[in-house]
Amino acid sequence: MSLTEKILSLKKEKKAIILAHNYQRPEIQDVADYVGDSIELSRKAMEEKDASIIVFAAVDFMAESAAILNPSKKVLLPSLGARCPMAQMLTVDEIKRWKVHYPDAPVVLYVNTLASAKAYCDICCTSANFVEVINSLDADTILFGPDRNLAEYAAEKTGKTLIPIPEWGFCPTHLLFQPEDVMVLRMKYPNAKVIVHPECSAEMRKIADFVGSTSKMCHYVKESEAQTFIVGTEVGLLHRLKKENPRKQFISAYKDAVCPNMKLTTLERLYDSLKHEKHLVKVPDNVARKARIALERMFAVNGLKR
Ligand code: 13P
Ligand code: SF4
Repeated sequence: MSLTEKILSLKKEKKAIILAHNYQRPEIQDVADYVGDSIELSRKAMEEKDASIIVFAAVDFMAESAAILNPSKKVLLPSLGARCPMAQMLTVDEIKRWKVHYPDAPVVLYVNTLASAKAYCDICCTSANFVEVINSLDADTILFGPDRNLAEYAAEKTGKTLIPIPEWGFCPTHLLFQPEDVMVLRMKYPNAKVIVHPECSAEMRKIADFVGSTSKMCHYVKESEAQTFIVGTEVGLLHRLKKENPRKQFISAYKDAVCPNMKLTTLERLYDSLKHEKHLVKVPDNVARKARIALERMFAVNGLKR
């Protein structure tokens, strides 16, 4: 039996479901029950009625959110080392420090944060719903973290003043994209559309035809008449894009744009995780209770839309 077959049979035996982020390795995406962006995966975890185990093939903050939203289910993270460096950039102390300067400003946190930080915010958002979340608030000045690029983009889209907390938060993978590389690719593929994630720099966003979350990019590609796309996000997304659009062509805007944390989930680790039910994601009750309020407020604003 191949490792994939073993995973599928163990999954059935244990009544487990595998959720995989769009940046996972192709073989992990192929074995998953559902592949999506961060909001879709949280939503899927909440909607799941039959499974008692959720294996979250992604990074720490996504699995933590699933555990917070599904206290009665076992949520497993196959690789303990799969931690998003951006999520580690915002501490509770930093949030408190900024609150002293802006006591009336609500705190909006991107879901790419640790549960402890979420517990100190007013509402969460993702790269798919930040505009609706920010516009739902009766405030013009907002503390927003941890991604500075997303804060700048959100300010552009909403016309509100967003104070980035910390001042320098970033995704190391999305900073690898440079407009110079896109210019060279555009010479080779003049009819290509350039699609980028909002974690990219302002210079990248400026030259893009479309800016959106990973699943919004998938939606854009499906609807577009164009045949070729230059993709400015982690290379894992290209697998899903090719699978869903076999006749279209996809070129990474920088082929080494890999999130090493996302790639820590391998078939071996996924099998081991299912077999030994590890690593169980546990969020302390007092933190989970507060973080859950911030996540549920986000769902209340955005409903269950993409
Ligand atoms: P998405 O919600 O767009 O999938 O983004 C998550 C992420 O970590 C991007 O780097
Ligand atoms: Fe975090 Fe960036 Fe990896 Fe997304 S791509 S999980 S933001 S390090």
